[in-house]
Amino acid sequence: MKHLQNKAVLAFPPLAIAFVWGASALNPKPAPSPELKPTLQKKFTYAEDIAPLLNNHCVQCHRPGEVAPFSLIGYENAKKWSAMMAQVTESGQMPPWKAEPADVEYKDNFGLSDEQRKMLKAWDEAGAPRGDKSKEPAPPTFGKDWALGKPDLLVQMPYEFELGPEGQDEYWNFVIKPDIKEPVWVQAMDVKPGNKTVVHHVIAFTDKKGRTEKLINGNRGDKRAGYLTTGGGVGFMPDGSMGGWAPGVAASKLPDDAGFLLEPGTDIVLQIHYNKSGKVEKDRTQIAFYYNKSEKAEKKVDIAWIANPLINIKAGDSNAKFTQRFKLPAAIEIYNVMPHMHLLGRSMTAWAVLPDGKKIKLVDVQDWDFNWQLVYTLKKPMVLPRGTELIVEASFDNSKDNPFQPHNPPVDVRWGEETTDEMMLLVAAYSVVK
Ligand code: HEC
Repeated sequence: MKHLQNKAVLAFPPLAIAFVWGASALNPKPAPSPELKPTLQKKFTYAEDIAPLLNNHCVQCHRPGEVAPFSLIGYENAKKWSAMMAQVTESGQMPPWKAEPADVEYKDNFGLSDEQRKMLKAWDEAGAPRGDKSKEPAPPTFGKDWALGKPDLLVQMPYEFELGPEGQDEYWNFVIKPDIKEPVWVQAMDVKPGNKTVVHHVIAFTDKKGRTEKLINGNRGDKRAGYLTTGGGVGFMPDGSMGGWAPGVAASKLPDDAGFLLEPGTDIVLQIHYNKSGKVEKDRTQIAFYYNKSEKAEKKVDIAWIANPLINIKAGDSNAKFTQRFKLPAAIEIYNVMPHMHLLGRSMTAWAVLPDGKKIKLVDVQDWDFNWQLVYTLKKPMVLPRGTELIVEASFDNSKDNPFQPHNPPVDVRWGEETTDEMMLLVAAYSVVK
């Protein structure tokens, strides 16, 4: 599991490195696989082949202060990790881009092609040569504070929250009253977790009717503006959502003619899924909003949830399949898609079937990993006419052989909000086409 592993690696860096080195010292390197021979005619070097690959696919997370436990910037780091990089890219564990090619193109796609995976392997097998140092590209630069620059509106949790050391994950909801005097079109949202060790993911919901007050003052509330829920929902039917954040999700701007319309008096309910770390942790997460100031802003974006709440995954079934269909009552423009399942989820594929019968694959995840709740943004927003049918198919592995299986022995699992329950949900940002 990402967070567990994350911590293990962080806590014992010498051990992790010793393991990688020790492993390659103990096992003589296997001979290069036959299908690699042709590509080996070219000798890959760090300077010309590997550094550009790492810069484009890995260092956004593998750099100091980011979510990955070690940096892959610079030759020394790349060489040190070459064997492990070959291994985890071949297995598909890294990079954690899970979407297979579909009938749409995605923005900021950091997935690797088979050629690139083979290149990492061949480079490692050749002893990770550096090549001509003068040809090494400079690592990309990252905005120091916020990737999209200075926010138009910066809000934060109303107080520094203290999370207990042990026990189940907790879902806390914090109510933020943005200080705005007139409606604004929000074109992008970015999140800076106050404590990366425990913040697992964040979703911003909206509440126009002050319905959180009762919840805050209830018995699972904390009078300083936060309250606990069991996950999934926020304790009432929110008016909308502005999307979410999880490690590895890069902030992305909506097109110039679109935005989430945020009006004065609307509260933002920030739901944070916390993992426990073994000690008391403090968090004060911040949210940056970027306004769409273009005259063209007119498309009101909202978040749709296409769910199958009737899933019933039988104990022991290693390939339980479910389908959910939804016919669009109006034409929409769709901006992104985010599959969501819990620990038993294995695959999710979604199509749009247009009224003329044309079938468009929107997203296809075949190796679901609960730890990577990625949002796949379409390079070009797509218009889906009224009457289009969205079809979502998902499969779950509820056998004892699923390494993420939370129950021993497996039990029947249904829809629910705890991590050990399941969900089958396709989340999408859209606007209605007028
Ligand atoms: C979106 C963020 C992200 C990107 C992009 C990413 N990584 Fe990682 N990587 C992580 C995190 C977090 C971990 C630690 C936890 C884990 O293994 O999931 C990790 C772990 C690793 C490990 C150690 C695996 C282990 O089992 O200990 C290697 C090696 C690695 N990454 C290589 C790469 C390479 C090579 C790329 C690019 C091709 C890449 N990563 C891209 C976030 C990322």
